[in-house]
Amino acid sequence: MKTVQVGLVGFGTVGSGVVRLLTEHEDRFRRRLGEPLILKKVADIDLARPRLVSLAPELFTDKVQEILADPEIDVVIELIGGVTEAYDLIMAALARGKHVVTANKALLALHGNEIFQAASRAGVEVGFEASVCGGIPLILTLRQGLAANSIQEIFGILNGTSNYILSKMSMAGASFQQALVEAQAQGYAEADPTLDVEGIDAAHKLAILMALAYGTQINFGAIHVEGITRLEPIDIQLAREFGYQIKLLAITRDDGQRVEARVHPTMLPLDHIMASVQGAFNAVYITGDAVGPILLYGQGAGMMPTASAVAADLIDLAYNISHGVAGRVPPLGVNFADQSRRPIKPLEEIVTNY
Ligand code: HSE
Repeated sequence: MKTVQVGLVGFGTVGSGVVRLLTEHEDRFRRRLGEPLILKKVADIDLARPRLVSLAPELFTDKVQEILADPEIDVVIELIGGVTEAYDLIMAALARGKHVVTANKALLALHGNEIFQAASRAGVEVGFEASVCGGIPLILTLRQGLAANSIQEIFGILNGTSNYILSKMSMAGASFQQALVEAQAQGYAEADPTLDVEGIDAAHKLAILMALAYGTQINFGAIHVEGITRLEPIDIQLAREFGYQIKLLAITRDDGQRVEARVHPTMLPLDHIMASVQGAFNAVYITGDAVGPILLYGQGAGMMPTASAVAADLIDLAYNISHGVAGRVPPLGVNFADQSRRPIKPLEEIVTNY
């Protein structure tokens, strides 16, 4: 049985969570795999910043090349975020025949088709459970748990920061700006919070979910996106008086011929189960033709919930590597030879009905 070795790039909040799981809970990996999972190297541009977990100094480097050029490293974990450098890193890792695990939804929404094709060509895998809704096993659910269903509808609270802001505005009467500052202090927001509050982060995640749900390529540009920045406390209060809660929802529906895809503030009846999702939590309501409706709920951001998803991908990948089957499964369940795309409905044809 091969012992799988891992290189981590990006020793920030989520990276620290991954290091904690790999070093302080090493037994969990051994129990699942029958072998330890070795953290061989951790790279970050900033060696001096205080970290939330300790790491043996000899494992730490500021040179990514030490990971990319190490033939013993089987898996590269990308946790640097952003698009340009992360793209270069992942493509370089794939070109060297290394498997990749990433939490980077923006990168996958914009360049996922290319990345998954490159992985297919190289015969390696890209794990991305952490890219959508952090600790909620949503990718696994769509890929495997609901594989026998035709997915009719997904609507989700996919951005914790926006939900935190809307909750604070609704329950505590906070202004948008006060609530945003609090969400940033809690560490939920993206480095550029515009991505959160303008609905873009939720749309990145929706683009990935749609590809999984419908077996199509990723098509971020076709999603209608509207954020929460123009909402005032009075909008939220009035909605409540009429029996509604305003939530930023990411919505996709399949009518059998075309799909709709949109992110925008939505009025949900107060007695709807999704209306009670408060704070930085995420929730995703999926309807499959066989299973009916299901609801997934949990922490979509933060150090340990996101690290939980990264580590789940690592275990899955390490199992496949050690059994000699890694890279044999098509990424996303998408046949990339088939260039057809399910057309996306224009917004004006969509009737909102929640
Ligand atoms: N900024 C994101 C959110 C983090 O608030 O949901 C997790 O993707």
